[in-house]
Amino acid sequence: MNPGYFITFEGSEGVGKSTQLGVAESWLRKQGIDVVVTREPGGTPLAESIRDVLLTPRDEVMDDLTELLLVFAARSQHLNRFILPHLEAGCWVLCDRFTDATYAYQGGGRGLSRDHIAQLETLVQGGRRPDHVILLDAPVDVGMARARKRGELDRFERETVAFFERIRQTYLERAAQWPERYHVLDASRPLASVSESLITTLRPLVASQS
Ligand SMILES: Nc1ncnc2c1ncn2[C@@H]1O[C@H](COP(=O)(O)OP(=O)(O)O)[C@@H](O)[C@H]1O
Ligand SMILES: [Mg+2]
Repeated sequence: MNPGYFITFEGSEGVGKSTQLGVAESWLRKQGIDVVVTREPGGTPLAESIRDVLLTPRDEVMDDLTELLLVFAARSQHLNRFILPHLEAGCWVLCDRFTDATYAYQGGGRGLSRDHIAQLETLVQGGRRPDHVILLDAPVDVGMARARKRGELDRFERETVAFFERIRQTYLERAAQWPERYHVLDASRPLASVSESLITTLRPLVASQS
């Protein structure tokens, strides 16, 4: 049996990751693909507990390195206990954010060293990277306006516009570096048009597996 594809959905707040992930899931199911959907930080009960620690606003300031280590602690659990077993069973795994988000948020956003992130990436993942990254890109104000409509803001969503600009730039730089793995979709367009581009991206992947 062929291992499944590991596809991640990236982009800053409110660009439509969760929405488009749902679109991909139902379209892939219709094509007869075995697919599971998950998210980071989180994806297992233990990793979801770490997610709560990461996202809940609190009085004590979280040290940037604490944040980085928690992200990778959750990732180790998620990768080994959920993602890899599913891929090995031939299932496609669609994941809402992964290590690109760490480079973007903790690296670009918080200014943590890219090399430290890369060291942890190797420690936790070995050579494992997503097979494909769907990067939903939109101007920061577009995503922020959409996220705000969703209600209560989490610890990250309370950050400044400059923080999200750095995140967007980091994502775009990474996409430019590995164009064969990254698929940049203009997420400022209406939902149906973004979904159409997404399916255009997924179609050849389905064809390559059958
Ligand atoms: N292309 C789009 N145009 C307009 N609204 C959108 C679009 N994509 C998503 N939305 C809406 O914006 C909000 C944020 O979308 P969501 O998928 O939760 O973003 P993310 O998971 O990236 O934070 C939701 O209310 C969603 O319905
Ligand atoms: Mg989401």
